[in-house]
Amino acid sequence: MPWQKYKEVRMSTEDHIVLVKKIVSLLMACSKNLFLYPIGHPQTRNGIEQLWQNIFAFLRSRPLLVLSFSDCEIFFEHDLLVDESLSCQALLDICAAKRINRISFLPGLTQNEVAAFLVLLNKSDSDGAGDFTAALAEAEISHIEVKRLLPGQAGADKPHSPGSSVKAHQQQYDMALTGLGEVFSQAQNEQPIAIERVDAIVEWLVSNIVSGDSTMVALTALRQHDEYTCHHSINVAILAVALAHKLGLDRQRLVWLGTGALLHDIGKINIPKEIINKPGRLTADEWQIMKRHPVESTQILSGLPTLESSALIVAFEHHIGYDLSGYPVRSQQRPPHLFSRMVQITDTYDGLTSKRSYHAPYLPTEALHYMLCVMPQAFDPILLKLFVLSLGIYPVGSVVKLSNDQLALVVEENQNDLLRPQVKIVDDSGRGRLVDLAGSPLSVKQIMSPADTEVDLAKELLTTS
Ligand SMILES: [Fe+2]
Ligand SMILES: [Fe+2]
Repeated sequence: MPWQKYKEVRMSTEDHIVLVKKIVSLLMACSKNLFLYPIGHPQTRNGIEQLWQNIFAFLRSRPLLVLSFSDCEIFFEHDLLVDESLSCQALLDICAAKRINRISFLPGLTQNEVAAFLVLLNKSDSDGAGDFTAALAEAEISHIEVKRLLPGQAGADKPHSPGSSVKAHQQQYDMALTGLGEVFSQAQNEQPIAIERVDAIVEWLVSNIVSGDSTMVALTALRQHDEYTCHHSINVAILAVALAHKLGLDRQRLVWLGTGALLHDIGKINIPKEIINKPGRLTADEWQIMKRHPVESTQILSGLPTLESSALIVAFEHHIGYDLSGYPVRSQQRPPHLFSRMVQITDTYDGLTSKRSYHAPYLPTEALHYMLCVMPQAFDPILLKLFVLSLGIYPVGSVVKLSNDQLALVVEENQNDLLRPQVKIVDDSGRGRLVDLAGSPLSVKQIMSPADTEVDLAKELLTTS
C-alpha cells in the first residue's frame, strides 16, 4: 500500500515513547538476528517487517523519527531511554564503532530500505571511519539519514580505551541504580512492578560480563561508602553473575541468577528504616523483624507471574548457609539451591566490604579471609574457592599503594601472575591511566583501607579519565 494513503494519526507523547522503545528493541533484535541468519531467513524477515511497521506507525503522527546515541546512552529527542540504554549494548557498540551518533527515519521509508540499512549497520568492516552516508546513497536508501562524528570533531578521535569504557559503564551503573530504585519504590507503594526494568539491568550486566569486560566487577568498588540497598543489590548481582560465568553457566542461567540476585533484598522495603539503618547492634526483637526480609522478598516476588521461580528461591534462601545455619529456618534439611549458594557468598562479601551503619568496611582481602577462615562451613567450599580465585590476591576494587608510593585501583586480576594485577593510576597530569603490573617495574607495596582516608579513593581513581 502506498505510503501516502495512510491518514495522519494523533498520538500522545507517552504512546510515542512506548513505540520508540519498541523500535529500538526491534532494531537491536534485527541486528542480532542478522549475525545469526541470512537476510532472507524467516526470523530476519519477520523482525524487519515488524521494525518497519512500527517506524511506519510512528511516522503517521510525526514528521521524523530521530534516535541519538552516545557511548552508553540512547535518546529519543530529549528523553533518555534508560532500559534500552542498558539492554541494547550491542547496538550502542555498533553505533560507536561506526561513529554514528544519530539515525533519522523519514516518511516514505520502505521495508527494503530498512533491510538494506540493517545489512550496512551489521557489516563488519574494519573501516569504522568509512563513509556511512555514501554507503546509504550507494544502497539507494534515501529515507534514512545518519549523523556521524567526523574526525576532528569532539570525541571522534578518542580511542575506545578501557578508561572510557569504565566511565561509560559507570554511567550505565548509575542508570541501573535509578531503575532499580524505581522498582523498589513501586513495590513499596504497592504499584505494579516494571519487571522490564529489572530485565534491562540484568541484560546489561550479563552481556558485559559474558563479553569478558572486567570493568563491571571493578564498578563494585564504588560500594565502599554507600549503604543503600540498591547499590548492594547491583553489586551482589554483578559478583554472582561473574562467579557463575567463571563456573561455565549458560547465558539463560546467568539471566535467571542475575534476576534473583538483583531482587534478593527487595523485602527490606517492608522493614522499618530505623532497624535497617540502626547504628550498633539490633535488639533481639529488632533482629526478629530484620530476619523477616527473605520471606518478605519472596512474597513480593510471588506477585510477579513472569518471574522465574529461581528468583523466589534465591530471595528465600540467601541467608541460609551451606551448613544450613542462618535464616529462615526450614523444615527440609536439604542444601540451598546453587543460585542461592552463589548469592549467599557474594551477598556476604559485599556486605562485609561495604560501609554499614554498624561496621567500617572490611578490605576485600580481610573479607575473603573472614569468609575462608572464620566461617568457612557457612559457604559452599568449591564456590568460595572459585570466588576467591576469581577475585585474585588483590581483589578487583582494592586500592593499593605501589612501590613508587603512588595509589592505584585494582581493575583486573592477572591470571598468570596474581601478585601483579592490572591497575588504574592517576598520573602527574591528573589523567587516569591503566597499567599492567605484569609488564611494569612497579609492584604492589601495600593494600590501603578506605577507612584510613577521607576521600573515596576507589571512586576517585575509577572515575578519573
Ligand atoms: Fe538479605
Ligand atoms: Fe543482601
